[in-house]
Amino acid sequence: MNPLLGKLQPYPFEKLRALIAGNTPPAHLRAINLQIGEPKHPTPALVKQALAAGLDGLASYPLTAGTPELRQAIAGWLERRYGIPRPDPEKQVLPVNGTREALFAFAQTVLDPTRDARVVCPNPFYQIYEGAALLAGATPVYGAPQSWAGVQLVYACSPANPSGRVMRLDEWRELFSLADRHGFAIASDECYSEIYFEQAPLGALEAAHRLGRGYDRLVVFSSLSKRSNAPGMRSGFVAGDAALIKQFLLYRTYHGSAMSLAVQAASVAAWNDEAHVRENRRLYAEKFRTVLPMVRAPLRTEMPEGGFYLWVRTPIDDAEFARRLHAQYNVLVLPGSFLARSVRGVNPGANHVRLALVAPLDECVEATRRIMEFAASL
Ligand SMILES: Cc1ncc(COP(=O)(O)O)c(C=O)c1O
Repeated sequence: MNPLLGKLQPYPFEKLRALIAGNTPPAHLRAINLQIGEPKHPTPALVKQALAAGLDGLASYPLTAGTPELRQAIAGWLERRYGIPRPDPEKQVLPVNGTREALFAFAQTVLDPTRDARVVCPNPFYQIYEGAALLAGATPVYGAPQSWAGVQLVYACSPANPSGRVMRLDEWRELFSLADRHGFAIASDECYSEIYFEQAPLGALEAAHRLGRGYDRLVVFSSLSKRSNAPGMRSGFVAGDAALIKQFLLYRTYHGSAMSLAVQAASVAAWNDEAHVRENRRLYAEKFRTVLPMVRAPLRTEMPEGGFYLWVRTPIDDAEFARRLHAQYNVLVLPGSFLARSVRGVNPGANHVRLALVAPLDECVEATRRIMEFAASL
């Protein structure tokens, strides 16, 4: 057995299941789940129709590189969305089966474990970054490292899960200059880029373009899961450094991660349409506008810049908060400490819970009402 498997941490949702295992929540309150970031708005009809119309594609093996139509649709979307020159669809763009598998596989492609590789992740973070590093034989580093020696890959997440924070141009400038100095690759996870409330979040390719830098050592990861409410379609892309993407394509050919032609056809329709994405944003904005003013002391939160999470400060230990909230009010939220690792004795997710505002508006409102009643009783 691969001994590295033993290094993997339990997933946050497994920890949550164990935390609430002894609870018997009141039966008269219907269960409301805000713990998982699974989009729940309907998948747009145009995407479903394109999928159905593409079903003949099931009769063929797809190429790992994807169809020219899909790569062109993605390149065109990147150009329109970020105001960058259209990336070369042949060399700078590659479809992937959702960002999760791609974020994982990218580490297996770029890391050289014979040289004591280190991988920098944000903290709190999406746990796939850590697992990808560990299974590639590397050591994860949580948050900004004290030394960049041995760092081969940096994961960035903007808008961030869970805080919704968007990286600024200055932060990109600094990260690019570190990458150029120390030779590491940057994997920019932008799967929440299309859920925002005021300003469209800055993307890493856009930042590189604005800084006149080019895409050396930079690859961005984007997805239809959140943008187009199609998490079950498993469709996304990577774009950026042509040399990295060439090696990634080679890895993926062996890994066997080509996208079904039917899903590729549906993805073309999704990337070419923005009306459904605007409507999706409107639905999230309505929820945030309604729920945010309900959150008061002793809890504390603010409007995220992007994404669909509320990152809420709790007056007591976050795991205890989540456990008792579930036991007394039948509402599930994710303890922030499950999304982070302690560094020098401090867990930056502690005393926070993450609320995914994915349920319909009335459920989000009802959950927030119960959460405030519980918080007032503390
Ligand atoms: C930060 C982050 N990255 C990536 C993903 C994976 O999304 P997908 O594989 O559906 O594109 C998620 C899913 O929740 C996420 O929260």
